[in-house]
Amino acid sequence: METVLSGIRSTGNLHLGNYYGALRNFVKMQQENKCFFFIADYHSLTTHPDPKLLHGNVKNVLTEYLAAGIDPEISTIYVQSDVPEVCELYLLLNMHAYMGELAKTSSFKEKARKHPDNINAGLLTYPTLMAADILMHNADKVPVGKDQEQHLEMTRKFARRFNNLYQVEYFKEPVAYNFGNELIKIPGLDGSGKMGKSEGNCIYLNEDPKSIEKKVKRALTDSGPTVPNSPKPDCIENLFTILKVVSTDDVVAHFEEKWNTAEIRYGDLKKQLAEDIIKTIAPIRERILAIQNDDDYLHKVAMQGREKARESASKTLREVREIMGIRSF
Ligand code: TRP
Repeated sequence: METVLSGIRSTGNLHLGNYYGALRNFVKMQQENKCFFFIADYHSLTTHPDPKLLHGNVKNVLTEYLAAGIDPEISTIYVQSDVPEVCELYLLLNMHAYMGELAKTSSFKEKARKHPDNINAGLLTYPTLMAADILMHNADKVPVGKDQEQHLEMTRKFARRFNNLYQVEYFKEPVAYNFGNELIKIPGLDGSGKMGKSEGNCIYLNEDPKSIEKKVKRALTDSGPTVPNSPKPDCIENLFTILKVVSTDDVVAHFEEKWNTAEIRYGDLKKQLAEDIIKTIAPIRERILAIQNDDDYLHKVAMQGREKARESASKTLREVREIMGIRSF
């Protein structure tokens, strides 16, 4: 069985795009692999989140992962800062991570350009911390989006470098977990290609029906087709893309037909779309509401995950220290 590690930054609530982009596939992935899911709260510190909000964000992600079907009895789900071993491995890996290569990472350059007043060392060494997360469990595979591919490539480079330097075959070189065509990209309701938190066009998994109706009602549309069989503009294509995900084939066929005959009423389309989005997320939302105030359960799950993650991490660290020649008296 292969080991898969998935990390998510703790920056708030999960949305429909997260669910169809990855989360839903994770539920199956965990049946076929030895999976670690963790919440990268150390990574989120690079942007100096309000301490009063940090824990709540971690809790949201934990709650929503569990609600979406990550099973703590099958997988290991933990919070990064609960596993201190990662800090030591990060420090050790940093000794072989070079300023030049870190500084030319795309994510670093972009953050540095956007926030010139906060170019901190944590941001510079973000890829080393990520490599520590991955190498700590000797993961074979890591599900990553496009924006994280370079980080995974750097992890491979750090692993290779370590092996070469110490003349060992210790770290594996992790590759991207490929979901093939099961990955569904959910577009935004604002006509943009992607639903994303920073785009502000999301429908959240814990969102209440009224609010979903409002958002869908406000979704960008055009003035409607005037001739039959016209090509759909992006904003309408987007609504159909989401409809295909949440509605039945009959419903989709009905609105395709209405579009093709140029009789479509966007009000009807939106009403149906909102209804089916609400129906789709209802079971997840119910579980979120049930778990989020169950502190005992969340505590139990987090401690169980911490235990399992530390077991795997401390083994790696013991071996890495040995390879590097660190010994205590
Ligand atoms: N950098 C990742 C992101 O922003 C989160 C992350 C941190 C991660 N460590 C990881 C992802 C290790 C995969 C493996 O999405």
